[in-house]
Amino acid sequence: MARVAAERLQHPRVAYCGKDTRALELTAEYDAAVVINAVLSDSDVDNRAMLRSVYEAIRPGGFFIGLFPTIFAPADIGFCEERERWRLELVDLLHSRYCFDEHVGATHILYTPLRLRAILREAEFTAVHMEVFFCESPCLREEAARAYGLEGDDAVLYELLVTCRKPPMHPDRGNSLHRGLGGGDRQHAGDGRGVGPCSLPTSANGDM
Ligand SMILES: C[S@@+](CC[C@H](N)C(=O)[O-])C[C@H]1O[C@@H](n2cnc3c(N)ncnc32)[C@H](O)[C@@H]1O
Repeated sequence: MARVAAERLQHPRVAYCGKDTRALELTAEYDAAVVINAVLSDSDVDNRAMLRSVYEAIRPGGFFIGLFPTIFAPADIGFCEERERWRLELVDLLHSRYCFDEHVGATHILYTPLRLRAILREAEFTAVHMEVFFCESPCLREEAARAYGLEGDDAVLYELLVTCRKPPMHPDRGNSLHRGLGGGDRQHAGDGRGVGPCSLPTSANGDM
């Protein structure tokens, strides 16, 4: 991915590197991070680790912008369109999973808005704002047809467009302002084992 991007754009202020987003190990110096359709692993634990690791790379007060597929989209399409009804069998709402099908060739966890909001808050993002983004440009429709076999004007894929922030530096503490659960500076509700807020039932945390 990084190599393809580098072939398309060269700029003195742009650097590319390929890393595992679960453990970026970057210092907190970036003004913003943008994540497009890249937090959808079949492991809830990995997805949470990705968001936490991106959080660590953003400077205090910086922004996070993300586009997240949601399990409600394939369900909605299945409810609305007779010819898409078969898709409902691939929708596992309990586990927020879209199961293997011939078009996608994989199984993904696609979060619901509340669950995603809780996971973002667990990663300590604040001011979480979310809106529905319809993927209806010609280019995105073409991609939906290619990847998911979606056709027709009304069977439009939609995703969750998220903006949120890393809390600004607290003047007295020389550190980010955290929610201070239990009186401590940082207390991760998620401990890397997928037991944070809105955790998925165990079989979906399950880690590859
Ligand atoms: C659905 S694709 C989206 C790619 C691109 N953002 C786009 O919108 O076209 C998901 C991408 O996330 C990458 N990815 C998944 N898990 C990753 C991880 N742990 N570290 C780095 N990249 C990862 C995959 O390799 C894949 O390129």
